[in-house]
Amino acid sequence: MIVATTIAEARAARAAGKTIALVPTMGFLHEGHLSLIDAARENGADFIAVSIFVNPKQFGPKEDLASYPRDEARDTALLESKAVDLLFLPTLDVMYPPGSQTTVSVGAVAKPLEGERRPGHFDGVATVVLKLFNIIQPDLAVFGRKDAQQCAVIERMVRDLDVPVRLLFAETAREHDGLAMSSRNSYLSDDERKLAPALHRALRAGEDAIAHNIHDVSAIETLMRQLIEETPGIEVDYLALVDPETFLPPADFRRDLLLAGAVRIGRTRLIDNIRIARA
Ligand code: PAJ
Repeated sequence: MIVATTIAEARAARAAGKTIALVPTMGFLHEGHLSLIDAARENGADFIAVSIFVNPKQFGPKEDLASYPRDEARDTALLESKAVDLLFLPTLDVMYPPGSQTTVSVGAVAKPLEGERRPGHFDGVATVVLKLFNIIQPDLAVFGRKDAQQCAVIERMVRDLDVPVRLLFAETAREHDGLAMSSRNSYLSDDERKLAPALHRALRAGEDAIAHNIHDVSAIETLMRQLIEETPGIEVDYLALVDPETFLPPADFRRDLLLAGAVRIGRTRLIDNIRIARA
């Protein structure tokens, strides 16, 4: 595996004639991240690049940038074991040299839910992802549906800016009790970890209600909220039923739907979602 820390090194490592996939991450890798590498291979990539960069531009001033978990040695070994071809590990100065002043700002789809709670977050994500696309120039880029709104924001950016990359969105990898894998799960104490699957359970209850023909957005959101609120130690940030294209309340229950939620357990903020795909 080539480990590149500069843009020139990363570009020089690109193998001519190969189908290049990029899997952007912030590191502290888990099975969810590794499943994106598998998805890239299953979709024809024969050169896999993974980036690890904890992107300060996507963290708010009161968020966990300073404490975000890092373990470069373990991540490197995991990526070696997955036969990854290129690890791009840029420093802050490589990604944001002094004087840089351009930001990518995606419109309406970046405004509700996560966008409302984390102002500037998706501008930070879109900016760093476009930079990574321009640095690695992948044929294919893989993202996880765990961050459903991030997928939608990137899809919109790629379309709007004619970025020549194919996007692939992979299913959420979960622990046995349903908790979506996340680097931030490492913040949870043992007691907090026991509470955490409540988020997925609440979303599943919303899914069940829809399956039983309850077509009332606020009834479904209230049901999910009540399930969380009966668990002391978890606080709801939002629990919403939305249209997965707009992230606004759905106009039509016969179309695809997304149940999305964010909760706080102590100092940890967790997100998850379930997509209901119609035929
Ligand atoms: P990070 O949270 O490290 O996630 C990197 C990629 O892994 C994202 O596409 C994310 O959706 C995916 N992922 C995380 N948990 C997953 C799970 N349980 N199952 C499947 N995929 C999962 O998302 C980011 O980093 C950043 O915003 C980034 C895109 C790298 C830009 O900085």
